[in-house]
Amino acid sequence: MKDKIKILEDKIALAHLGGGQHRIEKQHEKKKLTARERVEYLMDEGSFEEIGMLVTHRTTDFGMEKEVYLGDGVITGYGTINGRMVYLFAQDFTVFGGALSETHAEKICKVMDMALKTGTPMIGLNDSGGARIQEGVRSLGGYADIFFRNVKASGIIPQISAIMGPCAGGAVYSPAMTDFTMMVENTSYMFVTGPNVVKTVTNETVTSEELGGASTHSTKSGVAHITSANDVECLEDLKKLLSYLPQSNLETAPKIPFELGDEIREQLNGIIPENANKPYDMHDVIKGIIDEDSFYEVHKNFAENILVGFARIGGRSIGIVANQPMFLAGVLDVNSSVKAARFTRFCDCFNIPLLVLVDVPGFLPGTDQEWNGIIVHGAKLLYALSEATVPRVTVITRKAYGGAYDVMNSKHIGSDMNFAWPSAEIAVMGAKGASEIIFKKEISSAEDPAAKLLEKEAEYAEKFATPYRAAERGFIDEVILPQDTRRKLIKAFSMLENKVSELPKRKHGNIPL
Ligand code: COA
Repeated sequence: MKDKIKILEDKIALAHLGGGQHRIEKQHEKKKLTARERVEYLMDEGSFEEIGMLVTHRTTDFGMEKEVYLGDGVITGYGTINGRMVYLFAQDFTVFGGALSETHAEKICKVMDMALKTGTPMIGLNDSGGARIQEGVRSLGGYADIFFRNVKASGIIPQISAIMGPCAGGAVYSPAMTDFTMMVENTSYMFVTGPNVVKTVTNETVTSEELGGASTHSTKSGVAHITSANDVECLEDLKKLLSYLPQSNLETAPKIPFELGDEIREQLNGIIPENANKPYDMHDVIKGIIDEDSFYEVHKNFAENILVGFARIGGRSIGIVANQPMFLAGVLDVNSSVKAARFTRFCDCFNIPLLVLVDVPGFLPGTDQEWNGIIVHGAKLLYALSEATVPRVTVITRKAYGGAYDVMNSKHIGSDMNFAWPSAEIAVMGAKGASEIIFKKEISSAEDPAAKLLEKEAEYAEKFATPYRAAERGFIDEVILPQDTRRKLIKAFSMLENKVSELPKRKHGNIPL
């Protein structure tokens, strides 16, 4: 028996070495942790159980039978993070550059199937040179097997991808179909075709970092939801993100014990500037409403005119969608609509209640927006909110103009509880624009048209730039003092805890994509 135990111990030791010490050192030189170090850091101590450590590839082309590594370039298994179960795969760049073979894909599919069966979140730590070139179509088939499972698991278990090295070609489509894509700055990149192909086809000269680095995808394309300075920060971010999520669509997110106390936040009374055209930071509103330091912003540097992220209120996990007057006055445009729609749908899939904070002057005008399809993209947000059945609460802090009023979780599209601050202006448009249209003749024929415009503007503002017309109709449930907002929201979300709302049975809706 001793000999047999020794054989197993030797195999385990060999598997732990991945592609060998010199390749581990190369990985460290690139300021990257190895796959095994990442798993160790991420999982609760001693909780990780590896599956398929002894799997090897079956390729004999190009002399591959002589180059065999236990585990075949990916670590798979399950364990706990802060006491909660997750399934995971971590690609090992020290083995064939983490390239995906048929067996490597089979290992990933096996844990994905287990995660789906058991209602457990699935985490992928990606660090791979793509399809295993020596295997050709077999490895492409492996990718498709993973993609297929990503779609099957979508909306049932949370799926999170951390990109911690290269992720190119077809490999990008698994992360793209998961719920969140995280990227490490300077050491990760994602693109469909690399700089060489780009040069050949379009004659553009571009570096990997410019084309698909973390900063590109977090600011320009929106492909990355979260970026982190290094591997350790990325894994910490992943743990934090998970803390707001339930295990599956059959559960709600963990709740932190909470008792209602003095929830008055006087600082909220002073946030809205006297001048309605002056910006303010919606983060300050969020801060005054939520449990201390609980805002975890997603898509921070993309479409900054809208904020999305998770927070806790009264110990409950919620998703926040909020116009941000600091950027483009908080207008809705193509990118902000898509960003908010996707986040809304995630929250709705996973029973995370939604809080929508509104200060929106409308949709961004212009050829750029129209030609890029603001009609269809704006419709995504309208659709996503309309179909969301989770508890939904709105607070209008200032402007809620035109069609954007309807879109931003109005009562009419199924919001459960709608509050407005006394500073709210719920109207078809701003007083100036409205007066210029409806009093056009009166203004142009006046002795002093400028003075007349001001007079009419004031008249319109007094009548319509308030929350009261909407409150009279019941479109607003209550006009509240800003300082009471936190208390009102804690109570509203608590009241809505057992909300039951079901959509009519159908195969699936047809969201405007
Ligand atoms: N298939 C098989 N082996 C691969 C591979 C792949 N797709 N990508 C990388 N490798 C191997 C390399 O041969 C090398 O092996 P070695 O350690 O025995 O020398 C090892 O992985 C590391 O690759 P290397 O090129 O030295 O690393 P790098 O950090 O300089 O570059 C990449 C990383 C990903 C940019 C580069 O390896 C690459 O371009 N790979 C091919 C990408 C591709 O076209 N994939 C197929 C389409 S999806």
